[in-house]
Amino acid sequence: MSEKQFNRTLVTAALPYANGGVHIGHLAGVYVPSDIYSRYLRLKGKDVLFICGSDEHGVPVTIRARKEGCSVQEVVDRYHRLIKQSFEDFGISFDIYSRTTSDTHRRHASDFFRTLYEKGEFLEKETEQYYDEEAKTFLADRYITGECPHCHSAGAYGDQCEKCGKDLSPTELINPESKVSGSKPVLRKTKHWYLPLDKHQEWLQPWIESHPEWRSNVSGQCKSWFDMGLQPRAVSRDLDWGIPVPVEGAEGKVLYVWFDAPIGYISNTKELLPDTWEQWWKSEDTRLVHFIGKDNIVFHCIVFPAMLKAEGSYVLPDNVPSNEFLNLEDDKISTSRNWAVWLHEYLQDFPGKQDVLRYVLTANAPETKDNNFTWADFQARNNNELVAVYGNFVNRALQLTWKYYDGIVPPCGELTPTDLATVEEFKSIKAEVERLIEGFRFRDAQKEAMNLARIGNKFLADAEPWKVIKTDPERVKTILHIALQLVANLSIAFEPFLPFSSERLRGMISLSSADWGRLGSMDLLDAGTRLATPELLFEKIEDAAVEKQLNRLAEIKKQNEAENHRANPVRPDIEFADFEKLDIRVGTILSCERVPKMNKLLKFSIADGLDNRTIVSGIARHYEPESLVGKQVCFIANLPPRTFKNGLVSEGMILSALNADGSLSVITPDRSVLPGSEVC
Ligand code: 2FM
Ligand code: ZN
Repeated sequence: MSEKQFNRTLVTAALPYANGGVHIGHLAGVYVPSDIYSRYLRLKGKDVLFICGSDEHGVPVTIRARKEGCSVQEVVDRYHRLIKQSFEDFGISFDIYSRTTSDTHRRHASDFFRTLYEKGEFLEKETEQYYDEEAKTFLADRYITGECPHCHSAGAYGDQCEKCGKDLSPTELINPESKVSGSKPVLRKTKHWYLPLDKHQEWLQPWIESHPEWRSNVSGQCKSWFDMGLQPRAVSRDLDWGIPVPVEGAEGKVLYVWFDAPIGYISNTKELLPDTWEQWWKSEDTRLVHFIGKDNIVFHCIVFPAMLKAEGSYVLPDNVPSNEFLNLEDDKISTSRNWAVWLHEYLQDFPGKQDVLRYVLTANAPETKDNNFTWADFQARNNNELVAVYGNFVNRALQLTWKYYDGIVPPCGELTPTDLATVEEFKSIKAEVERLIEGFRFRDAQKEAMNLARIGNKFLADAEPWKVIKTDPERVKTILHIALQLVANLSIAFEPFLPFSSERLRGMISLSSADWGRLGSMDLLDAGTRLATPELLFEKIEDAAVEKQLNRLAEIKKQNEAENHRANPVRPDIEFADFEKLDIRVGTILSCERVPKMNKLLKFSIADGLDNRTIVSGIARHYEPESLVGKQVCFIANLPPRTFKNGLVSEGMILSALNADGSLSVITPDRSVLPGSEVC
C-alpha cells in the first residue's frame, strides 16, 4: 500500500463479458482474490465497496449471438443471469453486480464521452479500416482474423493474437479474413475519435514509476508500452451494438467497449449509491484498487487512467493487482473450445463444495506466473490439507469435547509453558496473514492460515488429552479449552478465504460473528458455552469423482480435435487401369490370435470363398483378437505373399481407416456378404 492515508477502499473486479459462464480461470485470476481482499477489509471494520457487473457490449457478445443464432439482447440477458448466479453461489461478496446495458451506465458513459469531447480531449481522424462488402459492415477487433505478424500463427484476431499475446490492429494482420462472411475484406475510409495517449505518456509514466509496490508483471507490461511510445487509441467503433457516440455526425458509431466498460465501475457505484457515489470516486482519501487478469493491464493502467485524468475529477487507482493465467490440465483455458471448468457445472458435481474450489484456486493462484489446475491436485489439496489438517483438528477438538464434557466448553486452568508458546505462535501468525493480504499475496496468506490449523493439530498431538484423561482429568479441561479457542480463531482466520465453512464452523461452536480484531484472542468462547452437534467440515474426494472430471475433459478434447480436423491432402491422380489391377475382397474372420514376441501383430484365418487364407496385420494395439472373430473385413487379395522374420506368411492386407488420434478401425461391409465378394 502507498504511504498515503485513506479513509475508504473502492475495490473493483474486472467486468466479465456476458458471452459465457464463469470458469475457474476467472475465479482464480480476479474474483476470489478481490473477494478475499474485500472480505478482509470489511472484517477489519474498514469502509469498503466491492463493485462489479457484466460487460455487455463489444464484439465478444455479438459474436456469441451470431454463433448461437439469437439476438444479442438474449445472449447478454442469459449470460448476465448465469454469471451473477455463479458469483452468488461462490460467495463473491460484491456490493453490487450490475450490467453495462443499464440505463445508469448508458447515460453515465455517454456523458463521460461528451465531457471529454467538449473539453477537446479527443482527436478526430479519418482512417482506412477493413470492411466486409458481402456483409456490408466494418470489421472491428474480433470480427477479423488473419496471420499474426509477430509469431505467424493463424487465427490471430484484429485486436490481439492469443498465441503470442501481442496487441494488434486489424491492418497489421497478414491475409485478413472476415469472421462474418469469410470473405476477403477491403479497406474503406471511416471517421473515429481517438484518445491521444501519446500526450498522456508524460504524466502516466512517472505516475506508474511512483508506485514501486505494484506487481512486477504490471509495471513491466506498462514499461514495455512506454518504451514503444504510446499511440492515440480509437475510442469508437462502426458497430450496431453498443452505446451510440453522443455527438453529431456519429451515426452508426458506438463507444469502443474498452471505453465504456471501465466506466461501468463508476456507473455501478452510482446505481448503488445514487447520492453518495462521488465520495467514492472523487475524493482523494479513497483508495481505488482494480483486480484484473493480465490481458487487461494496459486498459487499467494506461487507457482508463488517461480517461479519468482527461475528465479531471476522478481519483486514479492506487494499485492494480493483476494475476497471470491459470491453465487447465496443461492447456490454455478457452471459452470457445469449452476447455474450462464452469462454476455452474462444478456445483452440480460437487454440491456444497464451493470452499474447496476457492481453497485450491487460492493455493494455486497464478500470482506471479501462469499456473496449472489439475484435478489430481484438487483432490490432493482437499484430502491432504482441508480434510487431513484443518478438518481433522476441528473434528478432534469438537469430538473430544463431546466425549468428555457433553459438548460444553470446559474452563481454563493454569497455562503451561507449552500452552503459552502455542498461543504466542498463533498470535504472531495473525500479523503475518495481515501483512500478506495487504500486500496482495493471498496464496501465502492462506498458507499461513492453514499453518494455524497445523499448530492446533500439533498442540493436540503433543498434549495427548486422550491419554492424560486417565491420569489428570483437570489438565484435559485446559487442553480442550485452548483447542476450542484455536478452533474459534480458525473460523475467523479462514473467513476471507473460505466463507462457507467458516460460517458452518461458527454454527458448530456457537460463535456469533467473525471479529477480525479478536483474532489471536484466547477468550473467544466462554467456558460453559454449549456447542452444537459437530459435523465434518470437509469430506474426502474419491478417485471416481476425479476420474469423472478427467473423462469429461478427454471427451471435450476429442470433440475439439474432431471439429478442427482436416483430412490429409489427396495424393496425385492415378490411372484408372492401375486401380482396376487392385483386387479388394470381403472375407470372414474365422480365427484371430496374437503373434508371440511380435506385439503389434494379429494373425487371422480368413474365409475368402476359395481355399481360405492367412493374413497377418499390425492392428494388435487396437483390437482384442476375440472381438474380431466372425466379423467381415475388406482385404487386398492380390498382393504377393509377405514373409515375416519368424517365418509367418501373410497372404493379403486387411484394410483399416486411420483415425486422427492414430487409432485404426477395420473396414467392414454394412451388411453381411458372401466371403470373397469383390469390392468395386
Ligand atoms: O477481458 C474482459 O473480460 C473484459 N470484459 C474486462 C473489462 S474490465 C473493465 F474495464 F470493465
Ligand atoms: Zn502472435
